[in-house]
Amino acid sequence: MERYQLKDEVWWVGAIDWDVRDFHGYETLRGTTYNAYLVLDEKVALVDGCREGFGQEMLSRVRGCCGARRVDYLVINHVEPDHSGAIPWLIEQLGPEKVFCTKRAKDALLLIFGEDCIGHWDITIVATGDELRLGRNTLQFIEAPMLHWPDSMFTYVREAKVLLPNDGFGQHLATSKRFADEVDMSVAMEEASRYYANILMPFGAQVQKMLAKIGELGLEIEAIGPSHGVAWRRPEDVAAVVGAYARWSSGEAPERVSLIYDTMWHSTEKMTMAIADGVAQEGVACSVLRVSRCALADIARMVLESRAFLVGSPTLNNGVYPAVGGFLTHIKGLRPQGRIAGAYGSYGWGGGAVKQVDAELRALGLDMVDPFELKYVPSATDLEACAELGREVARRVKA
Ligand code: FEO
Repeated sequence: MERYQLKDEVWWVGAIDWDVRDFHGYETLRGTTYNAYLVLDEKVALVDGCREGFGQEMLSRVRGCCGARRVDYLVINHVEPDHSGAIPWLIEQLGPEKVFCTKRAKDALLLIFGEDCIGHWDITIVATGDELRLGRNTLQFIEAPMLHWPDSMFTYVREAKVLLPNDGFGQHLATSKRFADEVDMSVAMEEASRYYANILMPFGAQVQKMLAKIGELGLEIEAIGPSHGVAWRRPEDVAAVVGAYARWSSGEAPERVSLIYDTMWHSTEKMTMAIADGVAQEGVACSVLRVSRCALADIARMVLESRAFLVGSPTLNNGVYPAVGGFLTHIKGLRPQGRIAGAYGSYGWGGGAVKQVDAELRALGLDMVDPFELKYVPSATDLEACAELGREVARRVKA
């Protein structure tokens, strides 16, 4: 099997999942990878595992890098099943002397695999500031709670200046290439953005804290090996993805309005197109996303990449149109911050949807514009009012 050197004595030993298209409800249209890294030193350390069913591929890559040498240590940065599912099997095959993880990870492993399984592992609890000397290289551990689970941890290979942040800086991208500079950089950044929007957007404050912690600890980062997608190794690529995390987590967004809607008999659609025209008249970019035609993962990314978003829904049975309801459930969990938002839509004999959408967006603490609704089919006057709504939102975006 091909060997992939991330940097110095750090090697990629992951597995590629070309087929996955649904990752706990989040569309992964380009598949993913489950990355792990081997540090080949006087002591050999494996950082992270992989999903159940991918252990054999990972084991073959480990053997390809270290032959018959023992893997002395296993570091578990995160226990979600896409990284831990194959760990009991890998431990049986590799027989590491010790396992290193956070206290919360150990507690979770106990609940996931049971005492009968993990009772046989020699687990050392580590916390921020703890180190593990391998010979020429030192692993430095940094707890990363809620990035994105309570157990999450980053591992830094000090001498190689390599950060292994598990889900951090990852992308769901299956490719035969291992580095961002080997693929189309715009694709790598788009997938990093989609990943951040759908996994890390609720944790902007924790991302900001982690970036500050990296600064406080004085970590020099020459390469980042995330646990999904491609690694970042050119200085400009490391700077690009770290800069993007700083921006996304700060609540900043480009000058763009996203119109997220669905329609029953085209009235809410006509409203949407008129609003889009109003936004464009003010020279602001506008994205139009019909919920039942777009992946939720893509819509979440456009919320991340837009300073404003409006949600349009027809009323069905006195409530929100089902597809729009699904989007609202997703976005409420992702808790976007610092955005202008609003609700609009049409109804027949009795309304309901716009009021509900407005209330749900308002509850997120967003900067709301007044809700706008109309009965049956929009007249020319109504469409002009929609265009004015678009112009008003665009002016607020520019301000
Ligand atoms: Fe890639 Fe949180 O698992």
